Amino acid sequence: MSKKRIVVLTGAGVSAESGIKTFRDSGGLWEEYDIMEVATPEAWERNRDLVIDFYNQRRKQLYEVEPNDAHYALVELEKDYDVHIITQNVDDLHERAGSSHVMHLHGELKKVRSSVDENLVYDLEGWELKPGDTCELGSQLRPHIVWFGEPVHMIPAAADLSNTADIFVIIGTSLNVYPAASLVSYVRPGVPVYLIDPGEVNAAHIQGVRVIREKAGSGTRRLVEELRK
Ligand code: APR
Repeated sequence: MSKKRIVVLTGAGVSAESGIKTFRDSGGLWEEYDIMEVATPEAWERNRDLVIDFYNQRRKQLYEVEPNDAHYALVELEKDYDVHIITQNVDDLHERAGSSHVMHLHGELKKVRSSVDENLVYDLEGWELKPGDTCELGSQLRPHIVWFGEPVHMIPAAADLSNTADIFVIIGTSLNVYPAASLVSYVRPGVPVYLIDPGEVNAAHIQGVRVIREKAGSGTRRLVEELRK
């Protein structure tokens, strides 16, 4: 018998216990930095060095942290289910924990790309992208990140995947950023939806959702145990 499919949508909260800051919580990154100054194409045009440095700091930190219980519990779930993760995160903690299918909606911190041809994507060696580092066409390399105002190319594939879920799980996202937050609307009626988050996430529009108001580590572990019984 083929395994049931679980699609998991994750956000910054799944990596919080690894020591990576979320964006919109108090003390989050968007309190410390102005989104418009570091995460938009306009910021890139105006102040490349600041944008490069912002992502260098994020990338440097990524080399210092490890996956947590939530990432590992999702790997364990693969023993009984066909698990597909759709993440808004640009870290690689799901991959490092060992998840087999991870789709990144908003790019990947450890990759960089040409600023004139978005198809020229490269693995960056080490954490530091430098002003003056160029692609094979000679243009400055930029972070491989989907900035505010840029199209999210992975959305059609993520929507199709969400539509095939037998169970849908949402972990650690404020569901504030679209189109990622709209993926749950592609889940078929009647499919169980679980939401794990210690904060108050507005889930009123999600039909039949079961909210598990816990941190990702303990909440995911508990749900995984329950689903594997
Ligand atoms: N476990 C689980 N969830 C947590 C934890 C934790 N330990 N700590 C905080 N959270 C929850 C918060 O309650 C909040 O609901 O994680 C969520 C984080 O929300 P945001 O900071 O808005 O992050 P996210 O939803 O991933 O942001 C989406 O916004 O800036 C962009 O591109 C960036 O991908 C990001 C997108």
